Amino acid sequence: MRNFTYYNPTKLIFGRGTVEKLRDEVPKYGKKVLLVYGGGSIKKNGLYDQVVGILNDINAEIYEVSGVEPNPRISTVRRGVDICKKEGIEFLLAVGGGSVIDCTKAIAAGSKYDGDAWDLVIKKAPVSDALPFGTILTLAATGSEMNSGSVITNWETKEKYGWGSPFVFPKFSILDPVNTFTVPKNQTIYGVVDMMAHTFEHYFHLDENTPLQDRMCESLLQTVMETAPKLLNDLENYEYRETILYCGTMALNGMVQMGFRGDWATHNLEHAVSAVYDIPHGGGLAILFPNWMKHNLHVKPERFKQLAVRVFGVDPTGKADEQVGLAGIEKLREFWNSIGAPSRLSDYGIDDSKIDLLVDRAMKNGEYGNFTRLNAEDTEAIYRASL
Ligand code: NZQ
Ligand code: ZN
Repeated sequence: MRNFTYYNPTKLIFGRGTVEKLRDEVPKYGKKVLLVYGGGSIKKNGLYDQVVGILNDINAEIYEVSGVEPNPRISTVRRGVDICKKEGIEFLLAVGGGSVIDCTKAIAAGSKYDGDAWDLVIKKAPVSDALPFGTILTLAATGSEMNSGSVITNWETKEKYGWGSPFVFPKFSILDPVNTFTVPKNQTIYGVVDMMAHTFEHYFHLDENTPLQDRMCESLLQTVMETAPKLLNDLENYEYRETILYCGTMALNGMVQMGFRGDWATHNLEHAVSAVYDIPHGGGLAILFPNWMKHNLHVKPERFKQLAVRVFGVDPTGKADEQVGLAGIEKLREFWNSIGAPSRLSDYGIDDSKIDLLVDRAMKNGEYGNFTRLNAEDTEAIYRASL
């Protein structure tokens, strides 16, 4: 293992009826509250009324940023920062999926910075402070509710980058599975793919002696794969929603990723695609990950073999490691196909006409990936295999 320090200060409040805990949590941080939400799902399912009712009961002064886009844009972040600076906002409350939470993180940090918030995303300036914020998560996928990362898109320049800072851990996150009942089937599928993809990003590393970490990752994958098909046939089942919600948080809150350095190349590849084509993150990952795996199977075949045998039930008898690994990758493809995830870029109408732009965006910071470094040629090959 590598040396590591684990730090996660987010208070996780999980279970049925937990939105009521807002009454205890919000007053700790102030009265002027900026409510941040997306395109209206929380108005349709009643969560908005419930949250505003509670904020009114505790005499909060409510301001709003609505219309946060999936793949949240810097223009929306700027809108939020302006309100925070002008009104002296004391606390932010994100109510939504990863996009709303990521946008809130950028508003929180941007409000404590004198320049343009995009500087923080592209790391032109360091994050040195942020307003406190909490979240009410409505979609199981990103883990943003319990981590310090955020991904922001600049639609004008067709760029999408991750950034992070210890200042943007949520103070608390409220996860009630009931609030995810209305997530439509396609977004539920994308969420399932995303949490599995986070687990794969951890799993493909070159560090030695990580037996517990391996088994935690394998167990996460098995739990998601066992539950997702049942959930997709029964979207309002509390127990299935509860399991998937917990898996999404655990897949990217640091708990299963101690003591090694994960890969993260496929996320870089996907962010370039959604920067240019604005496709859902989980949809892009479902297309790209099996092709990243095939491209890099040779790097450490025994790792792919372990995954294939332990998670996908491949029988290794009499087969070379690469063969077993490949069978595992094919089983993953079959699983994602079986739940209705996309498998080709052409499913989103994407052809090779902008492949140079995709490669350019993915190579923005030079070679990337920790399991193996990918250069422009590798990048283009993976995109081409995904067309
Ligand atoms: O905008 P509304 O109307 O709320 O609708 C959203 C949106 O259209 C809808 N939705 C969310 N909760 C719902 C619901 N619809 C009905 N009922 C509910 N309860 O779902 C759609 C997608 O929402 P979004 O927040 O975009 O999805 P997700 O949580 O998958 O977030 C994706 C974003 O997170 C980034 C991605 O790149 C992408 O920009 N990521 C953030 C990470 C992080 N901060 O750690 C890591 C991830 O790897 C990822 O890159
Ligand atoms: Zn992701």
